[in-house]
Amino acid sequence: MFSKKNMPCELTVSRVVQETQDAVSIWFEVPEHQWATFSYTPGQFLTLRIPGSGEREPVARCYSLSSSPHTEDELAVTVKRTAGGYGSNWLCDNIATGTIVSVLPPSGHFTPQDLNSDMVLLAAGSGITPIISIIKSALLEGDGHLVLFYANQDAESVIFGEDLRYMAKQFPERLILIEWLESERGLPDRETLSELCSAYKNRMYFVCGPAAFMDLVGDVAHHVGIPHGNLHREIFQSLRSDPFDTEIGVKQSMTTEQARLVVYLDGDRAELQWPKDLTLVEVLLNEGFSPPYSCREGGCGACVCKVIDGDIQMRVNDVLDEDDIEEGDRLACQSLPITDTVIVTFG
Ligand code: FES
Repeated sequence: MFSKKNMPCELTVSRVVQETQDAVSIWFEVPEHQWATFSYTPGQFLTLRIPGSGEREPVARCYSLSSSPHTEDELAVTVKRTAGGYGSNWLCDNIATGTIVSVLPPSGHFTPQDLNSDMVLLAAGSGITPIISIIKSALLEGDGHLVLFYANQDAESVIFGEDLRYMAKQFPERLILIEWLESERGLPDRETLSELCSAYKNRMYFVCGPAAFMDLVGDVAHHVGIPHGNLHREIFQSLRSDPFDTEIGVKQSMTTEQARLVVYLDGDRAELQWPKDLTLVEVLLNEGFSPPYSCREGGCGACVCKVIDGDIQMRVNDVLDEDDIEEGDRLACQSLPITDTVIVTFG
């Protein structure tokens, strides 16, 4: 039987930590019977259901885990207010110890394959949240060398500043911390980033921050010659659909054309007929299975699977790069079969 790992769970907030004037960390207590469901790798995210208010419908929002599975027992996400953002403002204004929140289990693939790798991590603003999770795990579990470039508007807006400076002191041989304040030096510039990337060409890169920052880093990395597959960027889209809606199982097919599907999930194997106009997530839900997914819009990466044999095409892909696709990765929520037989595996 397939696991129910993507089903929403109710978690209790164990504490709320004010990180800066407009950012809070929300810590969740995970009951022992849900430890396996909420196991995660550094860099992954949680999807939270934010209650509606007045005429406002509930919304779902993805937030990176700032905790590390190697250094903390509880899970934490860190949320920064965004101007006009309903989800972040609701959380910053209302969340408190004891609040019960509906949460989808961790997902995402912005995570190092090897914690021993030498890495360059670039974060701007609240983009530090998945990055600090990776740093904590890499320092404790790995033996690689890390450089963190961390840009913020001003000294007051730096999230985890003290923690990061402490880690840099504790691991002076392994963590170089470069802090950049826009109030003193303006926005991070191409020349500075080029110098940094040129000095560490063969490392793995992890980048998270506003779109303009990530675009600049991506462009610089390309010009400096960082191998495409070494550059990992965390991209969050606003969710249009509701990933907490579990009543989406039956999606009618309008075609008689079918492929043969062999699917592996959590060590189980199933063989199914796959109507060629339904996505892989839809056909699995129709058949009563529970594949991993969150946004169902091709924007989060929660549903990544790997093609072992045959081929599938994606309707939308805002997550995977050419190298991921070359290696067989596909977004199951956007995947339609091309060949008559497809073998895929999750996880
Ligand atoms: S569920 Fe988000 S990309 Fe497929």
